[in-house]
Amino acid sequence: MARTFDVEAVAEAMRESREFTRAMFDLVIAESDLRRPPADGFRPILWHLGHVGAFESYWILQRIKGDPTFAPRYDVVFDPIKTPREDANNLPPIAEIDSYLARVREEVLRFMQAIRDDQSQPLLRDGYIYNLVIEHEYQHQETLAYLLQLLAPELKSGGKRQEAGSRMPPASRLLTWSTFPAGHSRWARGVIRSLTTTNSRRTRSSLTAFA
Ligand SMILES: [Fe+2]
Repeated sequence: MARTFDVEAVAEAMRESREFTRAMFDLVIAESDLRRPPADGFRPILWHLGHVGAFESYWILQRIKGDPTFAPRYDVVFDPIKTPREDANNLPPIAEIDSYLARVREEVLRFMQAIRDDQSQPLLRDGYIYNLVIEHEYQHQETLAYLLQLLAPELKSGGKRQEAGSRMPPASRLLTWSTFPAGHSRWARGVIRSLTTTNSRRTRSSLTAFA
């Protein structure tokens, strides 16, 4: 059966979304500020990075593909029900989370490219589950935008790290993000601009525009 969705376009959307997610974390200068709640009543900012990977792994690799988990600790720590907010402060190092995300994504892409559409399975029909994973990550990007706004401006790089060779995409590249979907790309550009400014009045007004 021919596919009813464009695998390459979905893979590109997944890649682009993850690149933006990582760019948001690269805005924070010290990892220690990612490992603590930015205010009372929140999980650490870093929790959201592992969570998007655990969600992707659970739904695609475990529920649909039927693989056993390869990271049981991540299934617990980054599940909001299994690990309540107040217990979510003991997180793996960010480099380890990056490796986990890379392995999940590699296996997901291999699975997506290997199988055909299965119209009898609602989660696979028309690539539904891949779009669900993308939309879920977008949702957490919105949460991250709010959490990063809670951090004091001096704790964020404000664009200095991109000049020093960090993974944050250069501004010129951010301005060309216009593929899938266009609405999200415009939102992403606005977020990066608002989060890198050190002018708190401008930051607040930008946040209001996203509400
Ligand atoms: Fe979530």
